[in-house]
Amino acid sequence: MTLGPDTKLKVLVVAASLRSGSLNEKLAALAARVAQQTGAVVDHRSLQEFDVPSYDGDVEKDAGIPGGAAEFKRRLDECDAFIVASPEYNGSMPGVLKNLIDWTSRFRPQPFDSKQGLLMSASPSMGGGNRGLWALRMPFEHLGARIYPDMFSLAQAHKAFTDGGDIADTALRARFDKNLQAFLSLAEAAKHYPCMKRAWVEFLGEPPEPGVDRVDPVTS
Ligand SMILES: Cc1cc2nc3c(=O)[nH]c(=O)nc-3n(C[C@H](O)[C@H](O)[C@H](O)COP(=O)(O)O)c2cc1C
Repeated sequence: MTLGPDTKLKVLVVAASLRSGSLNEKLAALAARVAQQTGAVVDHRSLQEFDVPSYDGDVEKDAGIPGGAAEFKRRLDECDAFIVASPEYNGSMPGVLKNLIDWTSRFRPQPFDSKQGLLMSASPSMGGGNRGLWALRMPFEHLGARIYPDMFSLAQAHKAFTDGGDIADTALRARFDKNLQAFLSLAEAAKHYPCMKRAWVEFLGEPPEPGVDRVDPVTS
């Protein structure tokens, strides 16, 4: 059987740092490169493209969901899987990323629902920013994304890259590859063999009540 172009896995890659010279952007660029080499179609974007104001329910009521979140939703809709390389700020995720997730979560159907996600981080610290990923996992999973169990956190990232943007340590680079390949294989399998869960319901065990339910209207 020959697979057509639209059967290729589409992966959105974004780093959750706005600054130039970001270590997480380096890691995201490496992930994008490796994913492309394995045959995936990669959409590598900058967080700058998804700029949004601080979430405000009044702004949402008066002006709707801002363009940056709409653009993020559009990119998510077009992909099968996403990879986020995120810094750790004070043991958690950066506010700019959480704010974007909050705005994007206001769309229905829920844009994150059923998307396969891989989280990675880079930090000068010895923990590599791993605590931030545990915090980030929670809103993504809450919104229905299937976050891959293994998360790659690059410790001492300020000294970890070659000039060409690769991970210098060969054993670490092999571990990075293994993590990424395993994720891509799962995402590929999920794309072609979708499992039954389709609806996003905030609390499955809550008795349905239209006034207060947070449920995708198309699937309820
Ligand atoms: C407000 C703030 C809080 C930070 N908190 C942590 C932290 O909790 N753990 C950590 O490993 N690094 C922390 N850092 C250091 C960042 O990991 C480091 O600046 C990193 O390079 C940021 O990612 P980027 O290079 O992709 O921009 C913090 C940095 C800032 C600015």
